[in-house]
Amino acid sequence: MKVLNFGSCNIDYVYTVDRIVISGETKESSSLEVFSGGKGLNQSIAIAKAGTKVYHAGCVGNDGEMLISVLEENEVDVSLVKRVDDKTGHAIIQLTDDGQNSIILYRGANGLLSKEYIDEVLKDFCCGDVLLLQNETNNVDYIIDSAYEKGLKIFFNPAPFSEQVKKIDFSKISYLIVNEIEAQGIGGKSTPEENVKHISEKYQSINVILTVGSKGAFYTDCGEIKYQPAMKVDVVDTTAAGDTFIGYLLSGITKGDTIVSAVKRATVASAIAVTKKGAAVSIPKRDEVIMAEKILKPNLCAVDKNQILKDKIVKYLQDNLCVASLNGLAKTLCYSNGYTSELINKLFGKPFSELLIDMRCNLAAELLINTDLSVAEIIYNVGYENASFFRKIFKNRYGKTPYAFKKMKKGDSDDVKA
Ligand code: RIB
Repeated sequence: MKVLNFGSCNIDYVYTVDRIVISGETKESSSLEVFSGGKGLNQSIAIAKAGTKVYHAGCVGNDGEMLISVLEENEVDVSLVKRVDDKTGHAIIQLTDDGQNSIILYRGANGLLSKEYIDEVLKDFCCGDVLLLQNETNNVDYIIDSAYEKGLKIFFNPAPFSEQVKKIDFSKISYLIVNEIEAQGIGGKSTPEENVKHISEKYQSINVILTVGSKGAFYTDCGEIKYQPAMKVDVVDTTAAGDTFIGYLLSGITKGDTIVSAVKRATVASAIAVTKKGAAVSIPKRDEVIMAEKILKPNLCAVDKNQILKDKIVKYLQDNLCVASLNGLAKTLCYSNGYTSELINKLFGKPFSELLIDMRCNLAAELLINTDLSVAEIIYNVGYENASFFRKIFKNRYGKTPYAFKKMKKGDSDDVKA
């Protein structure tokens, strides 16, 4: 089985700034450094450093010889790279002291992949081989269609997200590696888990791996959504963290590792990458990653998982107040009814039915105070048909019937005015 990465090569100009420039502003940078980069190049180097042989294909311009040398130095096979008479792609990167970045891309040679060149490259690959792609070159849809026809297994990282991604036939993809923006662009849902669930249900062939920066990654494993926390490290530069993750992930999976261990190792590798400045140069070697895997601790403060779950439960109840059910919530969270019920008891200290009643009563109280809706209208709006039942549970919580509560609150505010 051979691995081919059809991707971009960039020269990265990294400007250090105290914060990212805003619209209309001019800022001086404290330094300029030039690094080898491009999602394609970075991912090829990550695959090679992870210990898997990889062929890199893509176009480099007149000023890009140093990128080919860097690929070679890192033991990437460059025999398929094409030299074109144009400028090499480049990236202008603003980097802040706390490791955040913002990137402007110039496509240059990365936009010159002709169909003839693509066909020529793919001639050397056959059924069972692996193809990796990002979205920094042209003709991505053509490469996917041609590779799929030949029976290659496709790993796709649709970064950076653009309209071009919408032309892709995702049913041809085996592994989709996305960040939150890309996942939302493809899945259209608001939370990472919802997008993982939605995309993997829509395209049965896809394994989705969604990285959420310092919070870690969500991924599918035999239909189940799993979570891998990121590792605790001091962040210097996040550039190429995602590329490192993808290279290590692909290497692990093609070597036969389980998705659980491949995602864990990829997480450790990208944690090391963010502790160093630069793109390709920050990608660690396999030995370093294996050592770090024994030492690094998960960054559990970055994500208070319980808080995220609580927010999701509350959001579901708010959005579905009148029709909320344990079954509906369990489906939204992708858990079983039994587990969801236990989870609610653990997180809120009460059962689902009590929590729902609380939310309905709280909303009713708010409407009673702030609107002129009648008590009957409010009862209906918060999801009850049986008005006497609602009056009883409202009285249990607020010590007064809805009508008495409204009257009392109105009296309070009249007093204030007076
Ligand atoms: O993913 C990081 C890369 O994105 C940088 O190296 C830069 O070239 C941009 O393509």
